[in-house]
Parts: sequence; structure tokens; C-alpha cells
Amino acid sequence: MLALMAANDTSIVILAAGKGTRLRSDLAKVLHRAGGRPILETVIRACQPLKAAQILVVVGHQAQEVAALAEQLGAQTPIQTIVQHPQRGTGHALQVAKRAIRKSAKLVIVLPGDAPLLRTETLAALLDTHRRGEAAATILSAELADPGAYGRIVRDAEGRVQAIVEDTSLTPEQRAIREVNSAIYCFTLEKLWPCLAALRPENAHRELYLTDAIAMLRARNERVLAQIASDANEVLGCNTRADLAGADRVLRARKAAELMDSGVTIYLPETVVVDPDVTAGPDTVIEPGVQLLGKTRIGAHCQIRTGSILHDMRVDDGAIVGPHTNAIASRIGPGATVGPFARLRPGADIRAGAHIGNFVEVKKSVVHEGAKANHLSYLGDASIGPGANIGAGTITCNYDGIAKHETKIGKGVFIGSDTALVAPVRVGDGAYVAAGSVITENVPADALALARGRQVNKLGWAKARRRELAAAKKPAKSSKRHASHRAKSKPRPRAKSRRR
Ligand code: UD1
Ligand code: CA
Repeated sequence: MLALMAANDTSIVILAAGKGTRLRSDLAKVLHRAGGRPILETVIRACQPLKAAQILVVVGHQAQEVAALAEQLGAQTPIQTIVQHPQRGTGHALQVAKRAIRKSAKLVIVLPGDAPLLRTETLAALLDTHRRGEAAATILSAELADPGAYGRIVRDAEGRVQAIVEDTSLTPEQRAIREVNSAIYCFTLEKLWPCLAALRPENAHRELYLTDAIAMLRARNERVLAQIASDANEVLGCNTRADLAGADRVLRARKAAELMDSGVTIYLPETVVVDPDVTAGPDTVIEPGVQLLGKTRIGAHCQIRTGSILHDMRVDDGAIVGPHTNAIASRIGPGATVGPFARLRPGADIRAGAHIGNFVEVKKSVVHEGAKANHLSYLGDASIGPGANIGAGTITCNYDGIAKHETKIGKGVFIGSDTALVAPVRVGDGAYVAAGSVITENVPADALALARGRQVNKLGWAKARRRELAAAKKPAKSSKRHASHRAKSKPRPRAKSRRR
């Protein structure tokens, strides 16, 4: 990788005014997401480490929304946006940007806002080639097996770049060229400006094509270079939904590879979706079909089992997240176990060694060290004391239709199965609550609370009942036989009567 030298004589212009017609979307192309981020954000982030003097984003279609996204990323490098309206082509876009380009800038890197696979290293290498070659323009090109509708790089017999010819203007011989224009360039500004001013809309779309500036520079005997990208995939744009899915796949694979390099095991990484800001510690194992989203932070030696979706989660060292857990904005403490099929909603705080089992939902509740709620429960606005055991089917009734109320369960408490805790209510340290209770009053520490109907056993009742039923059946049985005889003899007289 090239050392990134501060490029303070260089401005970067990102062209992002177009609509993206082929996506057939209400949303501007550059706002579509790939790899967990809007594609323009990924492009801007690839540019930022170059430490250019400025990043300018040309906006047009959905200008406000696109500008808002760009400006919000401007913390490190100043990001300015400039509106191009109407959009009259890539050359016009750069003409519009001219007035915002710093007077001190000598070079400009121009790139489209829809190429999210481009790496910082590739941009840095382009800039380096341009400087070393003392070129007026350096094009990043790529060799594609299928050049599709890309503009082609036309070279002369000595291999020098002559022009970029758009797909619609190709001669039959030029159509065979497989070296394409990525629309990523570096220009020396004093050489570019006169050509830009001379662009004419003499083409099928009646637009000002930036690509026409290449032939103009050559006509002025300026040096134009084209550097072939070592990875052709890097220059692919997101023109269609299929392109978008392809870019997403590559970005996800890069993120998975980054985690694996840092010591995380991922099985079937092509099935795993990890957002860019997610971190995970060494020896953590991520199983197939897992999604780790937002700002999720996972410690070391964790197991994130198949089908789990974790969003803005913190998972501490050694925790186990069982299959198909769905968790958001919560914390799973060190060595804690959650799932399978657990649901953590915002504010669940599962402390060290605690267990949350299958079909348990926890919201805005602290489950203290070593406490367990292993089956079929809802814990909301609650505090569960250290070592407490919450029986299967326990429900905190936290909502009275108007407001939410708290349930406090002390240290070492035992809550029997199928208990309803009607909040606000407290159960003191060491207390027991009998199964099936509806607890509406506080339970003192070390007490046993029973809050259910008292059981009555009626001895011999069942046996007597069976005898009664048997007696009642005798006459009923004989009359039934008559009835069935009548019913059967009518529709099928021959067969039945012969047998009898
Ligand atoms: C352009 C190139 C083509 C190259 C291809 C690579 C031209 C004339 N052609 O074609 O040689 O192979 O990119 O992807 O440049 N934009 C504006 N304002 C405009 C028009 C476009 O900001 O008035 C922006 C778009 O939002 C987009 C970028 O410029 O991000 C490229 O424009 P697009 O229309 O996609 O150009 P292509 O037809 O793909
Ligand atoms: Ca394009």
C-alpha cells in the first residue's frame, strides 16, 4: 500500500447530481445502500484518507437529501456541496463545480458518487501516477470481459491514450475494445479549464461530456495516461438493482474478511451480514445467517449462533447468543447466555453469567449477575436481583393502559412458574412466590407469597362420576343401536341384511 501523502494541492469532486434512472426508484441513486451505508457515504469515506484540500460534491437530483448526507460526513475534511441544476452532463457538472474549487488547488480528482467499491489505495495510486507522469489527465481504466455500455479508452499504435469514446458513438472496430473508462480521473487544473470551456453538446444526449476533454487535451499535445485498475470490480458503478446487490455482496465480503483477519471465525461468510462499524474480538465464532448491524460491539470468545440479528448491541467476552436471537440496543454481559429465540428490546441489560432462555422477551430491565429466566417470559421495566430464578411463563404486567410501572425482584428470589407480577411491585431478597400467583402487593424479604385460588381435593369424586356416567349410558346405548339399525338398513338393504 502506498503511503498516503497529504494532498493539499488537490481538490476532489464527486459527481452525484444524476437521478439513476435505471434503478427505477424514488430515491436518488447515491442514497441507495450497499454494504450497510448509502453508496455516496462509502465513496466519501474512501476519499477522506487522501487528506485533500477539499471534497466537493455536485448534487442535483434530491439535492437537499444528498447534500445533508455529504455535509454530515465533513468532520475530518471540509465537504462542500454545490447544486447543478439542470444536469447537463458530466462536463457541465465540473463547470458548475469550478467556482467552488480552491484557487490554490493544482490538481483535481473527479469521480462518480456511485462507485462504492473504489479503494483509497487505488485513488492514491492514480494520483501518484499522475504526478510522476507529469500528465495533464490520468484516467483510471479497467479491462472488462464484457465492456457493456461503458465509454472505451482508444489508444494509438504506440499505446498512448487518444480519446474516450462513449458507447453510443463507437465505430465497429472500437466496439471490440475492452479497456473502459471508470469515470475516475485526475486532472491538472490549468490544463483542464480551457478544454472544459470548449466542450460542446454534440452527442446523442445533447450533454457536455467530460470524456470529450481527453481528445481535446491530446489535440493540444498534452500527456494523457490511463492506469488499468488491478481489480476491475473496484470501478463498477451501481446503475441497476443487480449492480447494487453485487456491490453489497463485495462490501460485506470485505467486512467479513477484515473480521476474520482480526481473529474472528465466520462460517459460510457469504451468508453473514456485518455493518461497517461493527467490531468483534478474537476467537469469537459467528455462525451462518447472522446479521450484526449498526454499532454492535462484540467481545472475544463469544458465540453468535445461526440466524441471530443483533443491532446496536454490546456483547461482552464469552457470551453466548443462541440461535435466532433478536436483540437491539441492549447489553449482554460477560459469560451470559441468551436464546435460542430470545428477544432483547432497548435497554435490556443482561449482566455477567445471567441466562435468558427461549421465548423470553426483555425490555428496559436489568437482569443481575447469575439470574435466570429460561423459558417463555416477559420482563419489562424490571430489575431482577443477582441469582434470582424466574419460572417459566412469568410476566411482569408493567403497563396499566396509561403508564409503565416497575417491578423490583431482590437477590436470590424464586418466582414460581406462570406468575403475573402486577407493577409497581417489589419482591424482597430471598423471597419465594408460588407458581400461578398474581402478585399485586409487595412481598417481604424471605417470605413465601401465594396469590392464587386455594386448591380443594374432593376425594373419590372422579370415580363416582365415572360410575354415574356408565349407568346413564346403558339405556342410551340400546336406543342408539336401534337408531343405527334403522339408518343402515335404509340406504343399503341387501348387503347388510344378507350378512345378518
Ligand atoms: C460515464 C462516462 C463513461 C464511463 C462511465 C463509467 C461520460 C460522458 N461518460 O457514463 O465514459 O464509462 O461513466 O461509469 O462521462 N452526473 C452529474 N451531473 C450530470 C450527469 C452526471 O453529476 O449532469 C453524475 C452522475 O450522478 C454519476 C456520474 O456523474 O454519478 C456519471 O454519470 P452517468 O450518467 O452515470 O454517466 P455514464 O453514462 O455512466
Ligand atoms: Ca454511471
